[in-house]
Amino acid sequence: MNYLNSKLNFKEVPSGKVGWRSPSNIALLKYWGKKAVQLPSNASLSFTLQESLTETVVKFFPTSGKNFNLKFYLDGIHNDIFAEKISTFFKALVDIFPFINQLGFKIHSKNTFPHSVGIASSASGMSAIALTLCEIERKYFNTFSSNDEFFQKASYIARLGSGSACRSLYGGLVSWGEIEGIESSSNLYGSKLILNIKPVFETYQDSILIVDSTQKKVSSRFGHELMNSNPLSNKRFEQANNNIQRLLSVISSGDLVEFVKIVESEALTLHAMMMTSNPYFILMKPNTISIINSIWEFREETEIPVCFSLDAGPNIHLLYPHENKDQVIAFINSELLKFTNNNTVIHDKVGSGPEKLEL
Ligand code: DP6
Repeated sequence: MNYLNSKLNFKEVPSGKVGWRSPSNIALLKYWGKKAVQLPSNASLSFTLQESLTETVVKFFPTSGKNFNLKFYLDGIHNDIFAEKISTFFKALVDIFPFINQLGFKIHSKNTFPHSVGIASSASGMSAIALTLCEIERKYFNTFSSNDEFFQKASYIARLGSGSACRSLYGGLVSWGEIEGIESSSNLYGSKLILNIKPVFETYQDSILIVDSTQKKVSSRFGHELMNSNPLSNKRFEQANNNIQRLLSVISSGDLVEFVKIVESEALTLHAMMMTSNPYFILMKPNTISIINSIWEFREETEIPVCFSLDAGPNIHLLYPHENKDQVIAFINSELLKFTNNNTVIHDKVGSGPEKLEL
C-alpha cells in the first residue's frame, strides 16, 4: 500500500488541536520477537479492551522555520521522559508526515487506569498518538478516501511506535501479522478479525489483577531482542503460527475448553521464553503463581471456563465469559484479592475501539 509511506505535499498547517481516546489490548496469541523495522516474528491476536484507555489531545502551532519542538504532559504534569520518547518517534516519522517539521506540539495525555498500577500503557498511548497524527493529515491534507484507509494508516504508524499498539485501532478481536488463509492480515498493520465469531467472544470479560505495580526491570524492547539469540525461538514462532490456526477455529466454534488451553499455554510460553533467554529473567512474582494455582483449582471445581493471560509483567488478566461474571467476581473477592497489591483489580471487558474526541 503506497499511501502508507508516501510523502505528503508541502502545505502550511495552521494552529489547531485534535484528540483521540484509544484502548489497550490483551493478546491471546502473543507477539514476542521481531525483525527489521517493527515486523513481528509471528502473528498475534488480541481482545481490545473497553475501560483501559488513553486520552490524548495534541495542540500544534506553526514554528516559522524554527526547529521542531514538543512538550508532553501526563495527567497535566510535564513529563520529560515521555517528551523525549515521543520526540524521537515524531522525528522518525518526518518522511511520512513532513508537517511534523513545521510545527511545535503540546501533547496532553491521560490514562483511565492509574499509571502507577503497572499496566502497559504503550498500546493505548501509541495508538492514540498515531490517531492524532493521522487526524492532522485528514484535516489539512484530505488524503484518505475512506475510514478504512484512515485506521489502516493509524495502525501502521502505531506499529512503528510499539508493535502491540497496532492492534488497538479496532474493537473486538484484532490480529497483526500474516496468517495463512486470512488475506487481509499483514505484518505492517493490525486488522479486525473478520470471521464467523461466536457471540460469547464479543462480551468476554477481563479482570486485571494487579500483583505488583513497580516498574518492570526488563523492557519489552529488550525482551523481543533476546529472542534473536534464544535457542528455542524458531520452535516458538512455529508453535505460535500453529496456535493461531487453532485459536481461529475455536473463535468460530465457541469451544471454550480449547480456548482456555491455548490462551494459558501462550501466556506461559511467553514467560518461558523470558526464562530461556540469555540473559534469562523472570517477571512473574510468587503471587502470580498463587493466583494461577487458585484459578486452576476453581476451574476444576466449578467447570467455569475462566483462564488467565499474562503480559510482559506479573499481573494477571482473568478472562471469562460474561455469563459467569457473578461467580467469577465472587471468586476474585474471596480467593484472589489477597494476592494483589492493595486489593487492586480493574474489571474490564472486550471493547469497541478508539473514539475521536470532540474538542
Ligand atoms: C508481551 O508491543 O510492548 O505484551 O514493539 O517493543 O513496543 P514493542 O513491544 P510491545 O510488546 C508487547 C508484548 C506482549 C505480547 C503482546 O501484546 O502481543
